[in-house]
Amino acid sequence: MESAPFSKLISAIEPSQTLAIDSRAKALRAAGKDVIGFGAGEPDFDTPESVKEAARKALSRGYTKYTPPEGDRALREAVAAKLERDNGVRYTPEQIVISCGAKHSLYNTAMVLCNPGDEFIIFSPYWVTYPAQVIMAGGTPVFVSTSPEDGYRIDAGRLRSAVSRRTKAIILNSPNNPTGWVASREELEAVAAVAIEHGLFVISDEIYEKIIYPPAEHTSIASLGKDIRELTILINGVSKSYSMTGWRIGYLAAAQEIAKLATRIQSHSTSNPTSIAQAAALEALNGDQGFTAMMAREFLKRRDYLHKRLSALPGVSCFSPRGAFYAFPDISGLNMKSDEFSIQLLEKVLVAVVAGRTFGSDYNIRLSFATSMENLEKGMDRIEGFIKSKL
Ligand SMILES: Cc1ncc(COP(=O)(O)O)c(C=O)c1O
Repeated sequence: MESAPFSKLISAIEPSQTLAIDSRAKALRAAGKDVIGFGAGEPDFDTPESVKEAARKALSRGYTKYTPPEGDRALREAVAAKLERDNGVRYTPEQIVISCGAKHSLYNTAMVLCNPGDEFIIFSPYWVTYPAQVIMAGGTPVFVSTSPEDGYRIDAGRLRSAVSRRTKAIILNSPNNPTGWVASREELEAVAAVAIEHGLFVISDEIYEKIIYPPAEHTSIASLGKDIRELTILINGVSKSYSMTGWRIGYLAAAQEIAKLATRIQSHSTSNPTSIAQAAALEALNGDQGFTAMMAREFLKRRDYLHKRLSALPGVSCFSPRGAFYAFPDISGLNMKSDEFSIQLLEKVLVAVVAGRTFGSDYNIRLSFATSMENLEKGMDRIEGFIKSKL
């Protein structure tokens, strides 16, 4: 082929590395190897039985046809009730769009907001999908760094100096993947002040809201006042809170005009999220919330264990995650970059971690602790052995 006939934008995107390492680990496992996976971005718990039962009932009653493109009204009402109950923000069902996962809601948001060359501010380290989606929508990611020395706090001065005439939005992710940072109210107020002053949208990805370790608390930036609520596109979903990653239900809540445009995109792309999965998500949001609390307690125990083990390793330092289920240790003391470290770790001691380069930080690795305590112990013993062999 003379010149590639494919989209330049899409050709510039790398495949999602977090899924790639997981696939490699699964392939080794399929070949009979005893691989410990710290790569996964999904809770290791089964979806609650009551949620599965709601899906079975939906199937039995023949709830298997197209739904409205923006999602079932009952589910949008349940999301509105949840946002008021948990986050203190009021939205009407017309301001809510259900999609095939929060990732899809984020993609719709980028498509709705972005004109060619618009800039989107992303705090680094970042979840790999944000810059990829901005590029796919024809925009330009602009990175603002945060560091473990100041607990990954947002520096308002640094944020302000990244704003240009072309800035369209700020992407916020608290609790954070990969760092485990959780935004304080003061940090959110600072971000809101910048957004209001410059008329910038705030895309607030709150997917890890329920996986949070006291005394950290989740605050939605949309709850800080009317002006910032109007500029915020709040993103959330059921994947992480109810261990429903495969069901693919997420949502956005925003000004009605944004919701309308996101619905328009869906009407011409996916038509609607799966009917049965919507029935399941309705039960997740309206039913007993004990499962989510149990899961968060379990993650807390694992966080404590993993952080202790990582901090004891020579050449490694680790911020203690306040939320989500990832540890993001700094391995710069080992004189190895993250790709080399993670490839060697998988091939030599059969432990899968994700290279920090993927998240814009080449001297870190990401370990998901969405795996059993037994696996954590075994995996950490292997990592310890690997690191000691390098010294
Ligand atoms: C920060 C962040 N946002 C969104 C998502 C996607 O969630 P969903 O499964 O609802 O698409 C993930 C999944 O890994 C994530 O880490």
